[in-house]
Amino acid sequence: MTIRPIIGPNNPILRKRAIRVTSFDKKFQTLVDDMVETLLDAPGVGLAAPQVAVSQRLIIVRLMDDDESREQFGEDAGKLYVVVNPEIIKTSKERVEGVEGCLSIPGYVGTVDRYETVVITGQDRYGKSFRKKASGWLARVFQHEIDHLDGRLYIDIAKEVWEVTEEDETPAE
Ligand code: CO
Repeated sequence: MTIRPIIGPNNPILRKRAIRVTSFDKKFQTLVDDMVETLLDAPGVGLAAPQVAVSQRLIIVRLMDDDESREQFGEDAGKLYVVVNPEIIKTSKERVEGVEGCLSIPGYVGTVDRYETVVITGQDRYGKSFRKKASGWLARVFQHEIDHLDGRLYIDIAKEVWEVTEEDETPAE
């Protein structure tokens, strides 16, 4: 496995609409493994393929394995979600404001409104379809990562963006 460089906000790949994944071959499996390693190394809670300069519809989301996460997500804490060709098929009416960072925009965070709950569909790394309902923080990360696949960054929709200080503990996506 290889840690791949994460590209910055001025790279045009981050602004492209990524293409659907149709091949789950060895090369694709290497990409998934590399993205997992890159995310854990960063460290971050979410990574989309365009962030490692691959314009394909693939995201990885990681639930922290800390006390707060265990309280909110129970046995799902520490889980890693690999979602290929993700789609949001249902959203709550309710939207909530929260603070987000992005691995492609180091040193900054911002407040963004997101749906409180989403239902997503997608495929696992081998092409098997699944559906997942997510709420709260997990729903936020899924929305942030899926935005990456459509060339959208959180700074486009943030109400406010500011430079991080040492007190900010927002994990980056
Ligand atoms: Co991001």
